[in-house]
Amino acid sequence: MRKNIVAGNWKMNTTVPEGVKLAQEVNEAVAAACDLKCDVVVGVPFTHLTAVKAVLEGGKVGLAAENCAVKASGAYTGEVSAAMVASTGAQYVILGHSERREYFCETNEMLKEKVDLALANGLKVIFCCGESLELREAGNYADFIATQVSESLFHLTEEQWANIVIAYEPIWAIGTGKTATSEQAQEVHAMIRALIAGKYGDKLANDTTILYGGSCKPSNAPELFAKPDIDGGLIGGASLKAADFMGIVTAF
Ligand code: PGA
Repeated sequence: MRKNIVAGNWKMNTTVPEGVKLAQEVNEAVAAACDLKCDVVVGVPFTHLTAVKAVLEGGKVGLAAENCAVKASGAYTGEVSAAMVASTGAQYVILGHSERREYFCETNEMLKEKVDLALANGLKVIFCCGESLELREAGNYADFIATQVSESLFHLTEEQWANIVIAYEPIWAIGTGKTATSEQAQEVHAMIRALIAGKYGDKLANDTTILYGGSCKPSNAPELFAKPDIDGGLIGGASLKAADFMGIVTAF
């Protein structure tokens, strides 16, 4: 059976001391919460991984990097490899976020390479996909999302898929305060699950966790998470305050 997950994506926010404090707050709140219906992960900047890992050690909160390099190692000044991320003790890496696709020109082909490197280094991948407002309004978002998923993930084996989490994040809903309605999100989640079923069969599709991201907050999380194909969230802005983040974690 698939897991529910709520993952924070801090993006380029917080200094290391601020991030350590936030991680401590989340860690304590998760430790104190009884009967949580989801796994909790925080996605933090590279600079924070080691210090945040020390805070989370022995607890229940997982740790993610927000990206990794498209190369394994070598003369790529300023890059951080999947092996480096894994060596911090992080269990996850977020790949293919729309901000990386847009501002850093990441393509489906590059993301395929990154996914392979992440999996080869024992990381689980939170793979982001999602359409722009233009595509949404033109009505051809389904094909676009299907291409993102298939071009970067459909070369993987069934065993490798056990370490893939999908995050559907409509670009028009990210940081805009404009959440997709739970019906809009459910429609795309069901479409992604059917796409996976078509390639790998129903069992693997049913076992794959599909998160929603885009202006998810405590007030709209219960309705989103109540949908049959929405297995949690990838949370940007609302993950920067422990109370808001916990309001989403406890929304199931
Ligand atoms: P948001 O970001 O929750 O601030 O809209 C979500 C994301 O980009 O992962």
